[in-house]
Amino acid sequence: MHRAGRHHSSATEELQVIAPSKLAIENVSKSFRGASGPVLALDRVSLNVAEAEFVCLVGASGCGKTTLLNIIAGLEKPDSGTVLADGKPVRGPGRERLVMFQEPALFPWLDVFGNVLFGLKLKPNLTNKDRCDVAKYYLELVGLSRFEHANIHELSGGMKQRVSLARALAPNPRVLLMDEPFAALDALTREQLYGDIQEIWKARRKTIVFVTHNVREAACLGDRVLLFSPHPGRVQEKFTVDLPRPRDINSVDLAAHATRITKALKSLGQGEAIAAK
Ligand SMILES: Nc1ncnc2c1ncn2[C@@H]1O[C@H](COP(=O)(O)OP(=O)(O)OP(=O)(O)O)[C@@H](O)[C@H]1O
Ligand SMILES: [Mg+2]
Repeated sequence: MHRAGRHHSSATEELQVIAPSKLAIENVSKSFRGASGPVLALDRVSLNVAEAEFVCLVGASGCGKTTLLNIIAGLEKPDSGTVLADGKPVRGPGRERLVMFQEPALFPWLDVFGNVLFGLKLKPNLTNKDRCDVAKYYLELVGLSRFEHANIHELSGGMKQRVSLARALAPNPRVLLMDEPFAALDALTREQLYGDIQEIWKARRKTIVFVTHNVREAACLGDRVLLFSPHPGRVQEKFTVDLPRPRDINSVDLAAHATRITKALKSLGQGEAIAAK
């Protein structure tokens, strides 16, 4: 018998597509005490992200992209300003907004299945059987069903990122925050992931904020691409990419968008770092 007042959800309920969040970042500033004095990592950054929008952040190293992502996740607090998710202030981390990092932060002592299951510890109302069903669903979604019992060290870089993606998706967050998730992968593996992430985004309706150094990648994935300038970190320019999906990273139309963004980057003096990629 279930205890009164306690809601037990099922795997089917858990796998429903839920409403993605809208984000409002209002006047967010953050400084750090660096070795040679204070660093203004973010200076009154404001931006809105619509429900189910895919927004890419690009900019030179050190312009505050990761800091902003951490603040949206609730992992760091801004010095001033607020982040609202669906109108409510973000006060700390939670399963509504999950981060996927550049280096797959997987647990080497758990297998693939165990790593995906781990994220579901945040779901006390599920039975073990339901948790396993949910984990299986996401492993299938990222194309790793055959590898559910593989050890982490046996996986390629691309497969590790797929596990990280499944782990971040499994608790069914409303927002997915991705910090250069594909930067360490070879071009071919990345291309496959661009296709897959577009499909998954469409199927699961997430709001995504995606950080990258790669302008083409940003133009391939984003509804909008926001250009950050460093020291102090600010949103310098916003680009809308209105190409139909799914987008092919090698398409001519996409290259035209990427060129436009690269030009703007170069005019900020950041071109060397980024245009070459
Ligand atoms: N914990 C910290 N302590 C001190 N300084 C920090 C800390 N975190 C970030 N910074 C500084 O804040 C600035 C922004 O850093 P952040 O990591 O957000 O940049 P980024 O845009 O993500 O860079 P990259 O593209 O290299 O990942 C940098 O100058 C960095 O040195
Ligand atoms: Mg970073």
